[in-house]
Amino acid sequence: MLKDQAFLRIPGPTPLPPSVERAMIRPMIGHRDKAMDALIADLIPRLRPLFGTSGAVYLLAGSGTLALETALVNVTDEGDKVLHLITGAFGERFFRIAEGHRRQAIPHHVPWGEAVDPDDVRRLLQAHPDVRAVVATHSETSTGVLNPIADIARVVREHSDALLVVDAVSSLGGTPVEMDVWGVDAVASGSQKALMAPPGLALVALGERARAAMHRIQSPRFYADLRQYEASLAQSTVPFTPAVTLLFALEASLDLIEAEGLAHVFARHRKMRDMTRAALKALGVPLLAADAVASPTVTAVRPTRFTPKALLQAVRDEFGIVFASGQGKLKDEIFRIGHMGYLSEADVLQYIAALEVAAKRLDPESPLGAGIRAALEVTLA
Ligand SMILES: Cc1ncc(COP(=O)(O)O)c(C=O)c1O
Repeated sequence: MLKDQAFLRIPGPTPLPPSVERAMIRPMIGHRDKAMDALIADLIPRLRPLFGTSGAVYLLAGSGTLALETALVNVTDEGDKVLHLITGAFGERFFRIAEGHRRQAIPHHVPWGEAVDPDDVRRLLQAHPDVRAVVATHSETSTGVLNPIADIARVVREHSDALLVVDAVSSLGGTPVEMDVWGVDAVASGSQKALMAPPGLALVALGERARAAMHRIQSPRFYADLRQYEASLAQSTVPFTPAVTLLFALEASLDLIEAEGLAHVFARHRKMRDMTRAALKALGVPLLAADAVASPTVTAVRPTRFTPKALLQAVRDEFGIVFASGQGKLKDEIFRIGHMGYLSEADVLQYIAALEVAAKRLDPESPLGAGIRAALEVTLA
């Protein structure tokens, strides 16, 4: 293996396109410079289609977790009842954020590997008519499950006045997010996954109802106070020094996304998911999530004939391919493959080939060639 060669196939951060890397060596600009105003004025409208909204989009320097926290503290007040639909480690994190901010957080735990059942949400909203916000994870990165946000939104709208807040950290840019059509009030995301930019930008989008809440609520906040960002945006400027280099990077990644076209971007992610899943099934290696709820950006694999740890080590040592381990209660039971952002079918074929060799080394009965063949059939279809 070449010394420096590593192929990052984890569910974020994801590999950077060369044009995104190059964008980051542009000379620095001042954040009160006209060039910054122009950059912000350019970026915000170009982000809206990714969120499927004509509403507000805010950019903060920070990770995805800051986006979650920012969304929450701007649309709910201390003591508000918040219903958390928890399908894995990131749903749990959002719940802890709400508890930390002294919301009355109500957990609804769904077994890891399964998706939220909208009927349960209906039942819960009937039992708690005073819920002020419902929090859901779109793509639960710890399990590879894509939750049915459109259906959840419909139920929330029909049965309550609660705002729907969605964690789209590992879905935005990899699969459709349709805030306005679905009726989602707030969406939080990060730059380092399907958006093909480095870690460090927190993105928050608010619809009309969420923006009204933001002006109404008293929740203490300062850096995360989106009212400040809104006031600055009205003059195409920023309240604080932004992560200038990362904004350059985001601009370059949006160029690529727009050149490819969103429909094609989403189709590419679906195809990478389907190739990955077909290959693992052909190899007889179980998947955590069912086909119907499988995320287009990340696949969780639950091997039975070798340990996830041994597999991760084998593909890394022999091929420089980096998959991710499990998280939380599934830490030692699964491994996860990130297939989002700057990745294509060719990359999928590469990691499946490596995976097959590693599986064969760990389990002599593993059928060499079956995974690649299944993936090729998906490619040809
Ligand atoms: C679904 C989801 N939510 C939240 C986060 C947290 O993002 P960050 O690690 O950038 O704070 C992640 C990161 O993996 C994620 O996948």
